[in-house]
Amino acid sequence: MSEETSQACQVADKWRKKRGSLIMALHEIQGIKGYVEFKDAMDLSERMNIPLARIYEVLTFYNFFKLVAPGKAVISVCTGTACYLKGNDKVLDKFKSELKIKEGESTADGLFHLQCVRCVGCCGLAPVCVVNGKTYGRMTPEQVPAILDEWREAFKEN
Ligand code: FES
Repeated sequence: MSEETSQACQVADKWRKKRGSLIMALHEIQGIKGYVEFKDAMDLSERMNIPLARIYEVLTFYNFFKLVAPGKAVISVCTGTACYLKGNDKVLDKFKSELKIKEGESTADGLFHLQCVRCVGCCGLAPVCVVNGKTYGRMTPEQVPAILDEWREAFKEN
């Protein structure tokens, strides 16, 4: 863990001895930053000794919780076997070159974050990318610029 204790760790320490405290801890994190990101869920899991899958069950069950910062598109490129075999590495390369970032990074304007994920459960559509919960199947590198434009437009409208 980093030397600096994260806000999520502080929240976890406050709630971990109380019963049924996971939802309260998640509410508190969302209250502080407006959303609960993957790293927060990891910190809670570690400090409160709750499996990560259980935390995501709660986060996805309640619509109230937001998993990404408002106004940000999280691009998840599936690197599971089926998607890899169908060439998703080339789609990933195209996202990297268009956005000028590497996986795990965000663009300077904060609009896009690029990450790789393991099998998102729709291998029949391989290769697959997911942007903020919207699935794009049978991806080709040529589709990447249009997808980025689609999300830029979506943020303009809000
Ligand atoms: S391997 Fe990509 S969806 Fe299953």
